[in-house]
Amino acid sequence: MVTEFKNEEVLDFTQPEVREKMVAALEKVAAEFGTEYDLIIGGKRVKGESHFVSINPSNKDQVIGRVAKATRAQAEEAMNTAQAAFKTWKKVAPKERARVLFKTAALLRRHRYEFNALLSYEAGKNWGEADADLAETIDLIDFYGREMVRLSEEQPLTRVEGEDNELTYIPLGVGIVVPPWNFPMAIMAGMTTAALVAGNTVILKPATPTPVLAAKFVELLEEAGLPAGVVNFLPGSGAEIGDYLVDHPNTRFVSFTGSKEVGIRINERAAKVHDGQKWLKRVVLEMGGKDSIIVDKDIDIKSAVPVIAMSAFGFSGQKCSICSRVIVHQDIYEEFMTELVAFTEKLTVGPAHQQGVSLGPVIDENSYHNILKYIEIGKGEGELLCGGGAAEGNGFFIKPTIFGNVHRDARISQEEIFGPVLTVIKANDFDDALDIANDTEFGLTGGVYSKNRENLLKAREDFHVGNLYFNRKITGALVGAQPFGGFNMSGTDSKAGGRDYLLLFTQAKVVVEQF
Ligand code: SER
Repeated sequence: MVTEFKNEEVLDFTQPEVREKMVAALEKVAAEFGTEYDLIIGGKRVKGESHFVSINPSNKDQVIGRVAKATRAQAEEAMNTAQAAFKTWKKVAPKERARVLFKTAALLRRHRYEFNALLSYEAGKNWGEADADLAETIDLIDFYGREMVRLSEEQPLTRVEGEDNELTYIPLGVGIVVPPWNFPMAIMAGMTTAALVAGNTVILKPATPTPVLAAKFVELLEEAGLPAGVVNFLPGSGAEIGDYLVDHPNTRFVSFTGSKEVGIRINERAAKVHDGQKWLKRVVLEMGGKDSIIVDKDIDIKSAVPVIAMSAFGFSGQKCSICSRVIVHQDIYEEFMTELVAFTEKLTVGPAHQQGVSLGPVIDENSYHNILKYIEIGKGEGELLCGGGAAEGNGFFIKPTIFGNVHRDARISQEEIFGPVLTVIKANDFDDALDIANDTEFGLTGGVYSKNRENLLKAREDFHVGNLYFNRKITGALVGAQPFGGFNMSGTDSKAGGRDYLLLFTQAKVVVEQF
């Protein structure tokens, strides 16, 4: 009997003993910088022919680790290993599989500070963002473990006289799991454990900027008792192994979180049936967002501004849930903008591992240049109200940037920037604001600040996003309480942290016996 699921509390860094533990963990983790990490295939450590160098985005000269890069032949070996492991893992009772997850969650609690420190160093998360990622990791693993137990119980079916009817959820097979770098623990671990607890075996291809976190997580799964071959750790490039694995006839499903472009590519490639393939591949995609908060005319500006600003600039805007457009009622536009700009100008930018920094760096050189390119585009599309370029330091630092009075069709109103750049659009009234908010190819998160019940009701019905929030931040969906995933080009509406999620990694079998 498992206990009821409860969300993990986040750490309170205002407490001196919590701060001390974090400082000690940062030192401990720094002592391991430069370690080499091998591929893990069937539980064996395997060298690559070349490697990725994972660096600290807050300090480009600091090497976090060197991680083996798989070749196509090694991808084939991983596929064969995962297929062989599937034969035995699928027979392990769901409760036993869930137990591995509960142990993993317990180990994560024990090593929480070290993972937080590594999140700061490798992903550039400030302390609060790092710990929120870790708390969500524990939540997802604990939740999916419980979900598997629930799904393994007798499923309700209509009674038929003289028959014994049973429905069970059986696994699919070998899955390719391709997680993002922006929640390098929570989403990576959530995608991996959901697939494995359902009885599948996995080839985990971690995100290139954050492979050390994934390697450490796989070590933790082993420590929790996961049999060899159930999760195979296979860092590699898209060109060398990504397409190869997606195309592979023995791949049964692909679970991906990342950009729209890559998601579409995976969807197209996975749709093709190759020689020897016996199934249509299942594809679970979580892609981007161009998420808006609507600001109605009747709100309490002072209390809303910090929340809206942090919805936009938390983790330097690198969440698919982030508020990248604020749509403001014209009646309060000037007053709201004055407050928003004043608040944003006080935010600090600096190395993520230093305590108290509001915004760390962006993830890597490519992102850095891409975001700076959008800032230049923005200068031609709106009024630059604060920020507007790089910030000081030996990392990928960018100032929080706001563009006001932007047209709804501008590129910075429509394209996902994935950085600390906020577009503000003025609306004539609430209906106009809602129309602007829905005028996007995405549909992930959205928010409304309003005291007007009628307007909230309109938004409830017509704001077309997977996760809609009223009078609060639009990031940080809580596992179990706010299943997370979006519409349209935001993905396949696979609700991570929700009761439907595990079904995506199973197929339902019905057995009927007459007596
Ligand atoms: N689930 C995260 C959030 O809600 C984003 O991936 O912010």
